[in-house]
Amino acid sequence: MKATAIANANIALIKYWGKRDEKLILPNNGSVSLTLDKLNTITTVEFDKKYDKDILILDDQELKEGEELEKAIKHLDLIREISGIKELAKVVSKNNFPTAAGLASSASGFTALSLAGTKAAGKDLDQKELSILARRSGSGSAARSCVGGFVEWLKGGKEDGTDSYAVQIAPPNHWPELRMLTTIVSTVKKKVSSTAGMDLTVKTSPMYKAWLAAAAEDLEKMRKGVLNKDFKSVGKTAESNCLNMHATMITTHPSLIYWMPTTLEIIHSVLSWRDQGLECYFTIDAGPQVKIICLEKDVPELEKKLKNIKGVKKIIICKPGGGPRLTDNHLF
Ligand code: PMV
Repeated sequence: MKATAIANANIALIKYWGKRDEKLILPNNGSVSLTLDKLNTITTVEFDKKYDKDILILDDQELKEGEELEKAIKHLDLIREISGIKELAKVVSKNNFPTAAGLASSASGFTALSLAGTKAAGKDLDQKELSILARRSGSGSAARSCVGGFVEWLKGGKEDGTDSYAVQIAPPNHWPELRMLTTIVSTVKKKVSSTAGMDLTVKTSPMYKAWLAAAAEDLEKMRKGVLNKDFKSVGKTAESNCLNMHATMITTHPSLIYWMPTTLEIIHSVLSWRDQGLECYFTIDAGPQVKIICLEKDVPELEKKLKNIKGVKKIIICKPGGGPRLTDNHLF
């Protein structure tokens, strides 16, 4: 009863920020993302009678307590429930990028756990079922990592959440020239998780209503922009949607300021590069890292410029990537 899965991270072009159902993890707004080929999580799950507790080893460290462990155990419980098994599990998981710093590690993590876990439990889920399961234990955006390429997580309207899952807008090869440059400016774990942060925003930010209205319009523009490969529209819409979300974060009580000095330096640089004719746009999640949306032809120039910014520790050049997959390369 052992299986291993690899899942790619995704970065939202239209963000998800706020839930209408905290138990089922149902979003207040639909979102759109790009699944990335270079950022992934590999996870092995084994259910066996020999385990007397669920064990989780993340990036070579056993988690003994805390939110991450609780969420993983909750997820294993869901997998046991839908598969009708009782055995406890050992889970070993590795990210090829820093965990919990705003690089969507929880999305790829919960997708890999969902696929490896259900397979190890003897269940074969289809893409829709996997997406519904993946979003359930903490990281809603995991719903989107279950699908490759350009992805929409449908907001849905049903109370039971069966119509809130991810669908493909276009496959990875629809727009092979599109790139997302992921900069790493800090590897420090964020103080407030997305889960806690978005709940606070919904409760306290006076901007939240305006965010929802704008996000609904942005989603329509983004879907069209992706299908027409309209780079300017995709970039502009993603950037303004990101700024709207951060406006709700900054105006949360207590304030959620995920940006660091280097984050702002990159924002200003992108704006001035664009003024000079180098077309690129930024997007930022609940963390300090900046992702730059650009076309393949501009990557060398942008990489050179980014390397000149002192606080940039690493740049990962990503293309549209595929959905999750099983592998025989077990981690234990
Ligand atoms: O899925 P969560 O709970 O990790 O929240 C994701 C929130 C953002 O990354 C800020 C936006 C998004 O849609 O990915």
